[in-house]
Amino acid sequence: MRGARILSVGSAVPNLSINNHKISEIVETSDEWIVTRTGIKERRILTGVNKSVVDLAALASIRALKKISMKPKDIDLIILATSSPNDLFGSASQLQHQIGANKAAAFDLTAACSGFVLGVVTASQFIQNGSYNNILVVGADVLSKWTNWSDRSTCILFGDGAGAAIIQSCSKRQNGILGFQLNTDGQKSDQLSIAYRNNVLADAKWPTSKGEFEYIHMNGKEVYKFAVSKVPSSILDCLDSLKISVQDVNWMLLHQANERILNAVAEKLGITSDKIIANLRKYGNTSAASIPLALDEALQQSKINKNDIIVMAGFGAGLTWATVVIQWKC
Ligand code: UT7
Repeated sequence: MRGARILSVGSAVPNLSINNHKISEIVETSDEWIVTRTGIKERRILTGVNKSVVDLAALASIRALKKISMKPKDIDLIILATSSPNDLFGSASQLQHQIGANKAAAFDLTAACSGFVLGVVTASQFIQNGSYNNILVVGADVLSKWTNWSDRSTCILFGDGAGAAIIQSCSKRQNGILGFQLNTDGQKSDQLSIAYRNNVLADAKWPTSKGEFEYIHMNGKEVYKFAVSKVPSSILDCLDSLKISVQDVNWMLLHQANERILNAVAEKLGITSDKIIANLRKYGNTSAASIPLALDEALQQSKINKNDIIVMAGFGAGLTWATVVIQWKC
């Protein structure tokens, strides 16, 4: 078995920033309520009819490639984690074309806010078994397109963004993707969804239907309780299997859903608040993009040092939750 490590990270967000005051002009809410309940102050929203998740994903990918002077044609595989694709058949091929990675195979991965972690784990399997050398994993979402802007319980939360990581093969000694834990509870899938509503076409010649997707629906309280109860045990199981103690963790990088969730998980694990990576104040919940977006920012701020242990955990719709423990090797 070979090793795999994250070589470079890039990110992109749209220019338009919508702060809480602006949101309080369209729904009954306040900056104070949003900040105390979530920690979010503002979020970025993608505008323009011709702009899509692929544009953000491409920009993040090009930034990650540029940092290590890698050419797009050197990428073997692209995994695009998104729940807001341009095309239900998949958007990874559009990303492949847009960045000129014409030698890469490409596919979408749908696992909502756990998508980036699942993408990293999937990439590490392809690398460790010798199939590919250079894999681009992108977490990108534009959930603003699926937001009901008259529902104050959800429209305050989400923002748009993209984060990209280039994962490369290396020697076993240099391996940086140490272990993972993946979980799904499909029984609770209705707690957070963008459901498809089927309408039977009455005038059709044979039984047929044409439907449409609804807006984001979330039972916030249940998803909150799920995150705070399931994520700490997933992290602990993963660390235990690697014989790494909580004290050895340098950084905890959770899906940026709610500051209260980040603090509650850290408290349950006995991780001090100075080890929490958080940037949801500026970007809100960017779904699959949130972890690589925060990772890129932490790297730009030179917070992360060589050999640091980072616990990354995503959680959300599915319901899914996923942990990957990495060691920073660059
Ligand atoms: O990305 C996937 C993962 N997602 C998550 O992890 C999200 C998890 N859930 C949460 O983060 C929180 O549940 C929310 C931030 C969504 C909501 O916070 P909460 O503390 O659970 O509030 P709540 O839903 O229990 O609502 C409390 C009160 C209600 O009023 P009453 O019934 O007590 O009179 C709501 O109607 O707050 C009201 N409320 C609001 N008030 C002002 C709900 N949304 C708002 C709002 N502004 N935006």
